[in-house]
This record gives sequence, C-alpha cells and structure tokens, in this order.
Amino acid sequence: MTMLKLDRVGHAFLGRTVLDGIDLEIAAGELVALVGPSGSGKSTLAHIAAGLVDPRLGRVTRAYREHAVIFQEPRLMPWATAADNIALGLSRHRLSCAERRKRVEAVAARVALEPADLSKYPAQLSGGMRQRTAIARALAAEPDFLFFDEPFTALDVALKRRMQDIVIDTVAASGRCGLFITHDLAEAVRIAHRILVLDRHGHGILGSRTVPLVPGVRNDAMIFETVQAMLGNDPLFAHVNDCDERSVA
Ligand SMILES: Nc1ncnc2c1ncn2[C@@H]1O[C@H](COP(=O)(O)OP(=O)(O)OP(=O)(O)O)[C@@H](O)[C@H]1O
Ligand SMILES: [Mg+2]
Repeated sequence: MTMLKLDRVGHAFLGRTVLDGIDLEIAAGELVALVGPSGSGKSTLAHIAAGLVDPRLGRVTRAYREHAVIFQEPRLMPWATAADNIALGLSRHRLSCAERRKRVEAVAARVALEPADLSKYPAQLSGGMRQRTAIARALAAEPDFLFFDEPFTALDVALKRRMQDIVIDTVAASGRCGLFITHDLAEAVRIAHRILVLDRHGHGILGSRTVPLVPGVRNDAMIFETVQAMLGNDPLFAHVNDCDERSVA
C-alpha cells in the first residue's frame, strides 16, 4: 500500500525552479533514501512532502496517520530543557505526567542521552546531543511515517551507526516507513530499501535503485562494494558527490 505519493510536484523560489516533475511513491514498511548534490532541492522536497511548504505544482497524497520530521538542523526550543523538548513530540498524546516522563526517559536512552542531559537547555548541549534530542522528540510520538533530513551529519562514526540502527529497527519492527535524505551513499546503502537520486538541476528524480538484501543484514563489506559499484559503474550516481549545483553548467 502506498503511504506517500507525490504526483508531478514542482516548486520555485523567487522565480527560480528548484523542483520539477517530481514523482515519488513510498510503500508501507519501506525506507527510501534520497540522495543528490547540495542545493538540488532535497530539503525542499521533504518539506513539501511533509506539508510544511505548499508546492507550486502537483499533488501530495498521504495515507499514513501521523508523521514526524527530523530537520537538517535540530530546531529545539531554546527556553525548554532537553526533556521538555522531547516531550513536545508527545503534545498531541493523552498521557499522564508519569507516562510522559517514562516515555521521554526511554526514548532519550535509545539515542544515548544520559539522564543528566535531560535537564540541560539546548545551549548547554553539544551539537550532536542537540541533534539526538531532536531525533528523540520525533521518535517519542511513535509516528508511522518519518522524514529524516541529513540527521546524523553532526555525529561521530559510532553514534552515527547506533542512530542508523535505531532507524532500521524502528522501520523493521513496526511496518513504519520513511524518507531519509543523506549526502552519504554508504549510509543510504546501509539503511534503505531503495535509493532515489535527485537531479542536480531540479529536473526531477533521475532514477531509483533497489539495494540488495534488507536493511539490518547488510555487512560492511557488502555496503562498501555496493557503494563502489554505484559510484564506479552506475551513471545514475555520476553526480551525487558534486558539491554545489552552481559549480556546474
Ligand atoms: N526559503 C527559500 N527561499 C529561497 N530559496 C530557497 C529557500 N529554500 C531553499 N532555497 C533554494 O532552493 C535550492 C534547494 O535548496 P534545498 O535546501 O532544498 O537543497 P538541498 O538539496 O537540501 O541542499 P543541501 O544538501 O545543502 O541541504 C537552493 O538553491 C536554495 O538556495
Ligand atoms: Mg538540505
């Protein structure tokens, strides 16, 4: 069953086309990675898909119940502690204070935040802790669709793997689905069922590749070989590591 569908979506900022003719479908239980050069419109596409920006053209259809967005920057409330920021994700849930606290503590532990971190304000947290707080806020509500916009770039290698495993487990355990934006092809190959490549000039999705096996069982050697094959032999990935759309003709 299709949970998210974009039909011929297009968007422009200040008269400049950023996205054009975007068709996309994500099925129940599917985690789809979206890669593309910086400035190609990945965040804009996610914001449109999540209903935060109205597209100039096309239609978005959502069949899921509730979603959460993990933005490229943590977007925490500066006047609220980490615990209160995480609890914001539960604001629409009817929970007692004790249940809310329990849920916040459990999800904080999942993202490796220490109990002592929960009473800190965002300014007192490291960049990686802020991003993990934002991830915990999104996971707390147990949404059935997750939008991730390059969420792990501020994390070190070990934490990044741990967070990737949380994403894999969250999707596998519950039939949830999501759109995961990343610059890192190895990350996409590790966690996603399918990888979409966005054109660097805003001309839509160039193509899609299904990653062999399922997320969670792929080992490092297989991930490395898959990435090498994609970058070396597959024209779809020829430009994914370009750094800026303005640097090319
Ligand atoms: N609110 C806005 N107003 C004007 N232009 C915008 C706005 N948001 C994004 N853009 C422009 O749209 C283009 C796509 O931006 P977007 O943030 O979607 O790219 P991206 O693929 O997510 O890049 P990155 O990988 O660096 O995060 C860029 O040229 C950007 O300058
Ligand atoms: Mg972006």
